[in-house]
Amino acid sequence: MRIAVLHGPNLNLLGTREPEVYGRETLAGIDERIRALAAELGIEVETYQSNVEGALIDRIHELAGRVDGFLINAGAYTHTSIALLDALVGVGRPFVEVHLSNIHGREAFRRRSLLAPRAAGIVMGFGADSYLLGLRGLTLRLRADARGTEEA
Ligand code: DQA
Repeated sequence: MRIAVLHGPNLNLLGTREPEVYGRETLAGIDERIRALAAELGIEVETYQSNVEGALIDRIHELAGRVDGFLINAGAYTHTSIALLDALVGVGRPFVEVHLSNIHGREAFRRRSLLAPRAAGIVMGFGADSYLLGLRGLTLRLRADARGTEEA
């Protein structure tokens, strides 16, 4: 099983970006923890970060043929990008949405996620641990789906 982890805009700044909101862990540190958990779960992961909407979309298209699902923190594109939603839905792979912060406890413009209605699940508010919880959830979901297909 293979999962792609996508990080959207400004997440490359983690560690120094608003640490009171996002914590002090760097993106490289988070990716390391994701890889360690993937090894524990017996799955493969690949991670990618971009500040560019189109680059994220291109990567989703490229990865779709070789991954079973996506774990995505779309950053601010969560609240704005119909194109990103269309890409995720269009490639037909389940995705889990994650956020370091609880977007419902912040400014009103962050409370709406365009991705949420089509997400297999959402994890938010646990800092970097949101990614790890999301990865566990997506893995369970994909394994359940695979069992369902075998039985059918
Ligand atoms: C974020 C929340 C978004 O509103 C924000 O634009 C981000 C990070 C989070 O992980 O809490 O860039 O997705």
